[in-house]
Amino acid sequence: MLHQKMYGPAAVVLACVTTFGCSDPGPGLDSATDTTTASTDTTAGTAGTDAPTTTGAPEAEPVTWHQHIAPLFVQKCSGCHIDGGIAPFSLASYEAAEPFAVAALDAVLRGTMPPFLADETDDCQPRHGWQDDPRLGDDELELLRAWVDQGAPAGDPATAAPLPEPPEVELTDADVRVQIPTPVSIDGDKDLFLCFSVDPGFEDDTWIDAVQISAGNPQVVHHVLAYVDESGASADKVNEDGYYPCFGGPGINSANLIAAWAPGMTPFEMPPNVASRVVAGSRIVMQVHYHPTGKPELDSATSLDLRIRDTIPEYVGMLALIGNSEGPQLLPSEHDDNGYPEFRIPAGVEHHVEQMLFKLNDVPPLRVFAVGTHMHYVGTDMLIGLQRSSPTDGEPASECLLQTPGWDFNWQRAYSYDAPLDAVPRVDSGDELYLRCTYNNSMSNPFVVQALAEQGLDAPKDVHLGEETLDEMCLAVVGVAIALKDAI
Ligand code: HEC
Repeated sequence: MLHQKMYGPAAVVLACVTTFGCSDPGPGLDSATDTTTASTDTTAGTAGTDAPTTTGAPEAEPVTWHQHIAPLFVQKCSGCHIDGGIAPFSLASYEAAEPFAVAALDAVLRGTMPPFLADETDDCQPRHGWQDDPRLGDDELELLRAWVDQGAPAGDPATAAPLPEPPEVELTDADVRVQIPTPVSIDGDKDLFLCFSVDPGFEDDTWIDAVQISAGNPQVVHHVLAYVDESGASADKVNEDGYYPCFGGPGINSANLIAAWAPGMTPFEMPPNVASRVVAGSRIVMQVHYHPTGKPELDSATSLDLRIRDTIPEYVGMLALIGNSEGPQLLPSEHDDNGYPEFRIPAGVEHHVEQMLFKLNDVPPLRVFAVGTHMHYVGTDMLIGLQRSSPTDGEPASECLLQTPGWDFNWQRAYSYDAPLDAVPRVDSGDELYLRCTYNNSMSNPFVVQALAEQGLDAPKDVHLGEETLDEMCLAVVGVAIALKDAI
C-alpha cells in the first residue's frame, strides 16, 4: 500500500516499495552545497592593467569579431540571440554584438549563458559528460575574454573566418507532426501555462525513438513538456479551442512524459535500439509555457515532431517521473515541527532542504541514459543520486546522476549522457534513488517575488507539494532503457 500523495504526472513507472526506513543518504550526497559563483571583473578596455602577462612576454595575439568571435557566437549564442529569437537582443552581427561584449563575457563567466543547468559541483560529478553541451570550453572562454580585454575589435571582414553551421534543431527525419489546434494570443504580463490535447492518429501501437518540439513563436514559447495520454482523458478537459490551463503537469491522472524541451535544444533522440511505445488511440498533451513580451503576440504553430521506428527495438525507453512524496520516502528536514517528516517550505526561510529516498524494488535491470530535475519557482538547487545495494562490475556504490545548482524554472529540460547505453549508470532491483531539493522561500529569491506579485501577494507563505505556481515539487525525470524481454 502506498501511503503517499503523487501530484500531477508522478506516475511511478518504477514501483516504489515503502517498507524501509529513512536511511542515511550516504557519503557525498548529503552535504550542503556552495553554489556561489565566481565574481568577475569584466571591465572592457583594461588590457594591460590586469591581464596576466609577464614582462617580456610576446604581445597578445589580436582577437577580433570576424576572425574569432563570430564563429563562436554562431555556434553558442545566435540560435537564440537573433532577430525574432527567444533572447531579447541579437548577437548575430558585429554591430549588434559589440555593445553587449562586456555583458556577454560576464554572463558566460557567471554560468548563466548559454543556459544549461546541469553543472559539476563538489557534491556532484556525473560519470559522463552531456550530449550537445553548449557551454564554452576553456579555450573559447579565453578567446572571449581576450576579445573583451582588447576592446572588442571588429577585425577585417575581408579575411573573416568561415562561419560554422549552427546546431541542427530540426528533426529532419520525423514521420508525424502534431500541432496546437488553434492560434493562441499571448498578451498581458502574466506567464501562461496551457495544455493542448491532440490526436496523433495512431491506429496501432507505435514505437517512437526521437522527438523534437518547435516553437510556433520563439519570442513567447518558453518551454514545452509533451506527454502521452493513453486514456484519452485530456480530450474531456479542453475548451472549444482545444486547450485547458495547467501548471505543474498535464492536469490528468496518468500520462507519460515523452519530451521536455527548452529553447535552443537539439532533438531528443533515444540511444540506438531504444524506443518508447505509444499505445493505439493515445492522445498527445503539449504543455506550453508562454512568457509574454509586453506586446500582443500570437502562437499558431507550436508543434511536436515524432520519429517512428518501424521495427521492434531491443530496449523500451521511457522518461520515468519519480519524486513528490509525502510518504515514507520523505526524509526528516530541519524545519519539520510536527514530529514527522512533512513537505513544507516555511514562509521566509532562505535555505530549506527536502530529501527523498526511493527504494527501487522489483525493477528489471535498467540503464539511465538521460536525467532531468523539476521544481517550481521556490526551488534553487536539485540533486539526483543513486545508491546501489550490491554494486558490481565497476559500478560505484553511490554516484551522482545530475545536479542543477542554479535551478531556473525557465530552462528545465532533460540531459542525455554522452556515452553508449552499456556505459551509462545501471540500476538493479534494490537500488535507491536519492533526491535533494533546496528552496529559498524568501523575498531574496527573485522568482518568488515575481510569482507572489502575479498572485497579488507581497509576502511569502508556507509552500506545500502541489501543481500551482506557488506550490512546489521535487521530481526527477529519469530516462531509462529496459530490455524488451524484461519490460513486459
Ligand atoms: C537557448 C537560448 C540562448 C542561448 C543559446 C544563449 N542565450 Fe543569452 N539569453 C537568452 C535569453 C532568453 C535571455 C533573456 C534573459 C533570460 O530569459 O534568461 C538571454 C540573456 C542574455 C544576456 C543578458 C542577461 C545576462 O544574463 O547577463 C546576455 C549578456 C546573454 N544572454 C549572452 C549570451 C551569450 C554570450 C551567449 C552565447 C555564448 C548566449 N547568451 C546564448 C537565451 C539564450
